[in-house]
Amino acid sequence: MKPRIFSGMQPTGELHIGNYLGALRNWARIQHDYEPIFCIVDQHAITVRQDPKRLRESCEQVAALYLAAGLDPGHSAVFVQSQIAAHVELAWIFTCTVPFGWLGRMTQFKAKLQQAGQKHDAVGTGLFVYPVLMAADILLYQASVVPVGDDQSQHMELTRNIAQRFNSLYGKTFVVPETRLPSVGARIMGLDDPTRKMSKSAGSPNHAVSLLDPPGRVRKVIGRAVTDSEPGVDWSGPGPGVKNLLTIFQAFGDWTDGQMERHFAGMRYGSLKKEVTAMVNAKLEPIQRRYGELMDSRDYLRGVLRDSADRVAPIAEATMRRARKRTGLYGL
Ligand code: TYM
Repeated sequence: MKPRIFSGMQPTGELHIGNYLGALRNWARIQHDYEPIFCIVDQHAITVRQDPKRLRESCEQVAALYLAAGLDPGHSAVFVQSQIAAHVELAWIFTCTVPFGWLGRMTQFKAKLQQAGQKHDAVGTGLFVYPVLMAADILLYQASVVPVGDDQSQHMELTRNIAQRFNSLYGKTFVVPETRLPSVGARIMGLDDPTRKMSKSAGSPNHAVSLLDPPGRVRKVIGRAVTDSEPGVDWSGPGPGVKNLLTIFQAFGDWTDGQMERHFAGMRYGSLKKEVTAMVNAKLEPIQRRYGELMDSRDYLRGVLRDSADRVAPIAEATMRRARKRTGLYGL
């Protein structure tokens, strides 16, 4: 049997090229080497306030993007987290297993707390225990590989620690999963500020390229991307903005380092931006076309989500039976 992979994304805001290059494209590429399970994590999304109607719609939009980006629903399970109640049940068991300090050390939580001016009353408890739910997502399906972007590395380390802790307290129950990062594009940076990773919640209009952006907007945002005061690409040490543009091109185009150097060394920034824009638009066009078709076939999309949830439910239930039994919970 092929090893199992699990990964997921939050259905909040529009997916951007960081989500695609760091995760989604990698999923599509490796899916046939594994038994793949891909989730749309709506329960993670409600750690911050969401508009209920919009959240439900976003789940189907993200499902359409997963398929448009190449996930094969005949092979990969594609479902929404809240369709399987066991995620939160296992998360509770883990919440009772994990020391408070482990969660307090998570840098994403610390950053959120800082954004809230260190006011503990201004951040939800869900944000604090969020990584425990993520561990439950993965361990519930006994996944051995988790393809994600670099920003999830710390959460993955915690997931491994939770699996190991549970196994040592209660006996071997969970597979300890490996993290798998893409070789190029594991951390795409903001176009307006290349010292910060590209994120959905950044707010500024020139920060990210969304997977659904029309070509004109892509041109504008990349055209305004921050570079530096050099006249052209200094191959021996490009600044962070230029490096980010080169990474975006290389990841989308699958060019080797040698090809990149031969083509881009010394190139003026205006030309670099034109080339990156052309590459991004060429790669987004088929995704957007397929996305449009899928959004017009809602019944099909909903069928994929339903069938996938039915397919993975027995795996989740088998794990839950063992976890309940091991921890001594009465209801089996
Ligand atoms: P989320 O929704 O923030 O991001 C989804 C995926 O996109 C990757 N990513 C990036 N990759 C490269 N550059 C970027 N700028 C960039 N921004 C995001 C993320 O690394 C991720 O792989 N906690 C997760 C969701 C989650 C999950 C899971 C993931 C919940 N349960 C179980 C894997 C397994 C998150 O918020 O991802």
